Amino acid sequence: MADIKDIRSAALAAIGACDSEDALEAARVQFLGKKAELSELMKTLGKMSPEERQEKGPLYNGVRTELNDAITAKKTELRNAALNARLATETIDVTLPPRPLPQGTIHPITQVTDEIIAIFADMGFAVAEGPDIESDYYNFTALNFPEGHPAREMHDTFYMTPNEAGERKVLRTHTSPVQIRTMEQQKPPLRVIIPGRTYRCDSDQTHTPMFHQLEGLAVDKTTTMGELKWVLSEFCKAFFEVPEAPMRFRPSYFPFTEPSMEVDILCDRSGDNIKIGEGSDWMEILGCGMVHPNVLKSGGLDPDEYQGWAFGMGIDRLAMLKYGIPDLRDFFAADMRWLRHYGFAALDMPNLATGLSR
Ligand code: DAH
Repeated sequence: MADIKDIRSAALAAIGACDSEDALEAARVQFLGKKAELSELMKTLGKMSPEERQEKGPLYNGVRTELNDAITAKKTELRNAALNARLATETIDVTLPPRPLPQGTIHPITQVTDEIIAIFADMGFAVAEGPDIESDYYNFTALNFPEGHPAREMHDTFYMTPNEAGERKVLRTHTSPVQIRTMEQQKPPLRVIIPGRTYRCDSDQTHTPMFHQLEGLAVDKTTTMGELKWVLSEFCKAFFEVPEAPMRFRPSYFPFTEPSMEVDILCDRSGDNIKIGEGSDWMEILGCGMVHPNVLKSGGLDPDEYQGWAFGMGIDRLAMLKYGIPDLRDFFAADMRWLRHYGFAALDMPNLATGLSR
């Protein structure tokens, strides 16, 4: 039978050489299992004389304890090594590009509409809405475009097939019909903005058959053109996020306002991008005026008691100007690359406190 000293040194050497937990378990069975040489030696203790047993007993047991301790220590060592190896492979490389942004973005038109609503809500305006399919009456007649009026022809109207009563509905050519609907439903003082879809049979780089307008309407006993100018000036400064936005009011003509004006904003076209509020060029951005007495009458109001002002502008054009978008048709092309590039983060709601367009 093998000598205890040889068993001990062979076992310690084998345990020390183990390079995995499986190998260590095999060594444990080999050197401490039931059939191990050490176990065989232990069995001989019973047949020994008491003197001999007193000498060999502690010796054998000491070796067994020593081997057990060696295995436990080796196990801890192997586990630590495995953990360190894993940690080494899991380090973060801070030079790698960031993870891709979440999919899905807010369309620039939605973004700009939300920005406009935030600005006007802060000035006390409510949002009003009306139908996209309008009667000829609301789209034209009630807005002081009489039958056969030449201004009707300027609107490139989409007409629906006439119904049985001969009534021919239109896709609204502007958001102005909602002025009438609002006056019919609410009593002055009125302060509303009307963002919405509008339609005209026209298509090129700056026109699409469907586009968006923003209408504004204020009606009260004492509304003035001074208020209109102040509101528009405050809006332009807030929307373009500039300290000054000088404006020029030019006389113009719309059937539903008297007097009527077109408004230009100061801009600089010398660089790659148009800069608003600087330079020496002018760009037309909206139409406005004092509500025509006939329009107040259509809305059920007495023009001798009430007066109002109104304005209308193109939302898409404002978005193109603010965010440097060159072609209007791309807004509606549903091109994922365009949407990712020009879209806005879904959770950033525009508001005046933290900024409109961070
Ligand atoms: N409805 C006009 C258009 O579509 C825009 C407009 C001009 C609206 C003057 C108004 C206004 O309310 O006062 O071209």
